[in-house]
Amino acid sequence: MILTVNNISELPDAAKEILHFIADYRVVLFFAPMGAGKTTLIKELCRLLQITDTAASPTFSIVNEYHSPKGNVYHFDFYRLKEEQEALDLGYEEYFFSGNYCFIEWPEKIPNLLPEEVISVTIELSEINARKISVQKGIPSSYLTALY
Ligand SMILES: Nc1ncnc2c1ncn2[C@@H]1O[C@H](COP(=O)(O)OP(=O)(O)OP(=O)(O)O)[C@@H](O)[C@H]1O
Ligand SMILES: [Mg+2]
Repeated sequence: MILTVNNISELPDAAKEILHFIADYRVVLFFAPMGAGKTTLIKELCRLLQITDTAASPTFSIVNEYHSPKGNVYHFDFYRLKEEQEALDLGYEEYFFSGNYCFIEWPEKIPNLLPEEVISVTIELSEINARKISVQKGIPSSYLTALY
């Protein structure tokens, strides 16, 4: 599925479609360059999931936990990860296989730890305020070759 977001006001509708596409999947990977809008989109998805505590905790380093009527949501940002071992240390498996939503920024940092059953969201900058958002099952082949 490919969505065009001409400006940020169109993001809520795009997020709705993405949430439908995600359906029963729980691990969602966000591939995009810095500042493309991963966090902004994740916040929108969280809003749709009726998350009440959207304020990022001051200790948010790698994983942040939000609460919603539909269960917990785990938001990862692996940007600062230096090695996969750090993800093992924080017990990533407990999160990834918990059955709760896991929204993952910078999944490129943990290529060997990514589960098979995932949805990938790729965000490309087309113009300053416009975004092309691609959503698919599995990992995009362009990233697969780059990851391994
Ligand atoms: N159509 C759009 N969709 C999403 N964000 C947009 C859009 N237009 C402009 N923006 C702006 O782009 C910026 C995206 O920042 P955001 O922190 O979400 O990026 P990010 O991909 O999470 O970056 P990082 O890799 O540093 O975590 C925000 O300032 C947001 O307001
Ligand atoms: Mg971000």
